[in-house]
Amino acid sequence: MTRIAVLVSGGGTNLQALIDAQNAGKIPHGRIVLVLASNPKAYALTRAENAGIDTAVVRRKDYENQDSFDDAILKTLKEHDIEMVILAGYLSILSEKVIRAYTDRMINIHPSLIPSFCGKGFYGLKVHEEALKRGVKVTGATVHIVNEIPDGGRILLQKAVSIEEGDTPEILQRRVMEQAEWILLPQAAEMIAKQIEEEKQ
Ligand code: GRF
Repeated sequence: MTRIAVLVSGGGTNLQALIDAQNAGKIPHGRIVLVLASNPKAYALTRAENAGIDTAVVRRKDYENQDSFDDAILKTLKEHDIEMVILAGYLSILSEKVIRAYTDRMINIHPSLIPSFCGKGFYGLKVHEEALKRGVKVTGATVHIVNEIPDGGRILLQKAVSIEEGDTPEILQRRVMEQAEWILLPQAAEMIAKQIEEEKQ
């Protein structure tokens, strides 16, 4: 069983989709054993506690530099024997040291069809504001492997979502979550967890 950590910063709706999928037996090769938040106020922590999953908070501002923050993240993951990491609305910067420790075993959900509306500064509502500003008719979500290039890793899954007349960024964000993010992330989690289990054979 691949031991999974989910890194969060906000409301945790993607975490909830993972928990619900796990409870429905849709992630048979993996188990979420840790939720690690970038701040203590993240509602995602409450979701984890309600599901009986261990939690931890590692805040960037508690560390004098990026290197000691990275070390704290790696130490926390190692203490829980984590084999795979899922970034689910996680907003802190992870340097190469952390990413290299989970090469091909760290995935991220991005709320657009990469390579559109991604890269530095594109997160949360900003992604949907830009899509609406550009006037695209279709957007969606992407799950990709995390490498040292922001949103630049190998694409695992994508799902298109239509933009409707009168969409606001908030309405569009919700539709992309419901129709794409919450479906793709559990599927990708099982894909990578299964690959890791097969490598162990
Ligand atoms: C949302 O903007 C989502 O598109 C992105 O992270 C943000 C927060 O998601 N992946 P969550 O509700 O905390 O999972």
